Amino acid sequence: MNILLIGSGGREHALAWAISGSPLCDRLFIAPGNPGTAQCGENVVLDIADHKAVADFCKLQRIDLVVVGPEGPLVAGIADDLAAAGIKVFGPSKAAAQLEGSKAFTKELCAEFAIPTAGFGRFRDAAAAKAYVAAQGAPIVIKADGLAAGKGVVMAETLEEANEAIEMMFGGGLGAAGAEVVIEEWMIGEEASFFALCDGTHALALASAQDHKRVGDGDTGPNTGGMGAYSPAPVMTKALEEQVMAEIVRPTLAGMAKRGTPFKGVLFAGLMITAQGPKLIEYNVRFGDPECEVLMPRLKSDIVPALLASCDGVLDTFDLRWSDETALTVVLAAKGYPGKPETGTVIKGIEQAEAQDDVLVFHAGTKQDATGAILSHGGRVLNVVATAKSVSEAQAKAYRGVDAIDWPGGFCRRDIGWQAVKRERES
Ligand code: AMP
Ligand code: GLY
Repeated sequence: MNILLIGSGGREHALAWAISGSPLCDRLFIAPGNPGTAQCGENVVLDIADHKAVADFCKLQRIDLVVVGPEGPLVAGIADDLAAAGIKVFGPSKAAAQLEGSKAFTKELCAEFAIPTAGFGRFRDAAAAKAYVAAQGAPIVIKADGLAAGKGVVMAETLEEANEAIEMMFGGGLGAAGAEVVIEEWMIGEEASFFALCDGTHALALASAQDHKRVGDGDTGPNTGGMGAYSPAPVMTKALEEQVMAEIVRPTLAGMAKRGTPFKGVLFAGLMITAQGPKLIEYNVRFGDPECEVLMPRLKSDIVPALLASCDGVLDTFDLRWSDETALTVVLAAKGYPGKPETGTVIKGIEQAEAQDDVLVFHAGTKQDATGAILSHGGRVLNVVATAKSVSEAQAKAYRGVDAIDWPGGFCRRDIGWQAVKRERES
């Protein structure tokens, strides 16, 4: 079959790598892709925002399945428009993508279907929001309702910080995303991500992961899209996974179906493992980036039938095999990230990194010039992924890969996986 994958990040290189390994896949196109995805299929220039152009391409190339990587096109309704044109799409409808597109939507769903999450209030004006914060006290969490590229959450330790965040959001600091603000109880615990494949009715547990959002070693500095990740998350025991499926994932699917907006695709639950059990922080409606880069190398089964089963509503008869090994990815970012990354700097040594034992390199913001050289072309630029029997070993292997890369214009964290390594040493 012919498959079109939409997106251009490290997540999409990992997906392209997994999909292109399927005996079911004849031709794989990636729009727009990156130099890494070009090794797995054919990159195509398509305006993703023009859903009709995407549908026309699918008809021309006889595409049997479209896989949507990022949330932007899903929230914009690409799955609905392609489905209306008779094209099979892996990913949720616009209505179901509201689970990521609107934090208030998700909080209301949790309230309606008794899904454990932080206590909250939602506000459309600063005065009411400030009165709520004054009554609740600090610390407290202030969130813009809409998509804000990871910048929409302020963890306010004091009332002043909370009020400043409220003024910034209602003052237009985050554009339309801040027209509504959600204020939440600050939950305490260890964070984990959990992924489930959904077909509208059934959910199949995939795997867990943990990421590092802060730019600096020791989890310091500003938030980023993610500087590294590993899977599985040691905190997620089998029993906890079952609890998350029973108390969070399945009630969400049932609630979405009951409302007439069934959820299909990957449900990515951001969880806080609190003393009272797992609670939902937020949902994303797609694979995480860089979490996908550590899930794909652990997936032993063919991914394509699983994606098709999600589209066709037959996940209840499905199972997937996973490696017990740990996969760990270190993100190499361009200097300046997450502010203004320096682009156009030359990267060497990717092949040397891949020549290391059990190491894969997934591209994100790279481009290839006319001479074939690889240049930085974004904030997060490469993922160096290693698999091993323990987190400590995966970490050591990943950094051996990183050290083979010659890129003076880039940097990475040197401590990805530190909590899990510490846990291993102490056990
Ligand atoms: P979000 O974009 O909602 O995932 O939030 C980004 C990060 O902020 C999360 O990964 C958590 O580290 C933190 N966070 C968000 N909401 C809460 C909360 N209610 N309590 C504690 N931490 C939170
Ligand atoms: N790494 C977090 C995300 O993909 O949203």
